[in-house]
Amino acid sequence: MRIFSGIQPTGRKHLGNYIGAIQQYVAGQDRGDAIFCVVDLHATSVPFEPAALRESVYDTAAILLAAGLDPERCIFFRQSDVMEHTELTWLLCSVTSWGELNRMHQFKDKAGPQRELVSASLFFYPVLQAADVLAYRADEVPVGDDQRQHIELMRNIAERFNQRFGETLVVPEHRIPEVGARIMDLQFPDRKMSTTGGSPQGTVLVLDPPEVVVKKLRASVTDSGTEIRRSPDKAGISNLIQILAAVRHTSPEEIEREFEGFGYGAFKQAVAEAVVEFLAPVRERYDELRADVEGLDRIFDTGAAKARPIASETLGDVRAAMGFGPVRERL
Ligand code: AMP
Ligand code: TRP
Repeated sequence: MRIFSGIQPTGRKHLGNYIGAIQQYVAGQDRGDAIFCVVDLHATSVPFEPAALRESVYDTAAILLAAGLDPERCIFFRQSDVMEHTELTWLLCSVTSWGELNRMHQFKDKAGPQRELVSASLFFYPVLQAADVLAYRADEVPVGDDQRQHIELMRNIAERFNQRFGETLVVPEHRIPEVGARIMDLQFPDRKMSTTGGSPQGTVLVLDPPEVVVKKLRASVTDSGTEIRRSPDKAGISNLIQILAAVRHTSPEEIEREFEGFGYGAFKQAVAEAVVEFLAPVRERYDELRADVEGLDRIFDTGAAKARPIASETLGDVRAAMGFGPVRERL
């Protein structure tokens, strides 16, 4: 079983990223042959500064390593170090329709508020994402709920490619966690937690100091009721229940049972303490990892050296299937 996922180099990873995705990456190392990359090419689809981009790739890498990605047990690399991703993106464009890309929620969400130019790369973003996964013939893609549509698209692209050019690519499945796949903003619990679309007070960053984490969770918006249970009209409390269940690796039902009869204040305090404890090991390891840029570069070099042969074998098959180069036997 091969597992692949990518994460954007925003540097400021939040609790939603951690619970929805990073936690699953770490677990993936025990479940199969795991490959992860920091998707710096995707980051150029919105306005960016080159020097800041380079730094935030290291920030993100240090967070992932601090969270438990182990370069001995997975392949961990920087997307732009493996050129096959960009070549495959172009080749896959021939089996991707303009209409499909135009229906992507993330494109619409990001293109809408963009004041500077809406780049063509924002439109092609999901094809690059498909290339990331399909280049490794991955079976499973751990992601949060917001990536559901992108994974569906890459499945369609792979199926269409195989129908058109012969069986070449593996059609991947998403792996979305049952608990914590969509952590909401603590101030606006009808929006997902996000460093770009959310509120700073409602977003717990993985590297926030403990007192800040406590403050944000204690100030989280709830309803005027008293009961600790999930319900559509109790978005804030439902979110806190999800968060506590995810960090304790238990179910929301279990949390509701445990906190029956508790007040909101005591419940928020319990969630705050659990989140502080959950994030502490990452914060403790981060500074040392981040300070060693040469060490991070070595990890990226080793990762890219392992990733390239896999991607290049797929590209060889894709090129041959599509009619490039002289006729050759499949590897
Ligand atoms: P990104 O930082 O956008 O690259 O996202 C990295 C991973 O975190 C992706 O798999 C997302 O689906 C996941 N993710 C992002 N926001 C949330 C959220 N609020 N709740 C759960 N998962 C999330
Ligand atoms: N688009 C994903 C996100 O915003 C990041 C990503 C890029 C990704 N390539 C990927 C996720 C490949 C899974 C597989 O979170």
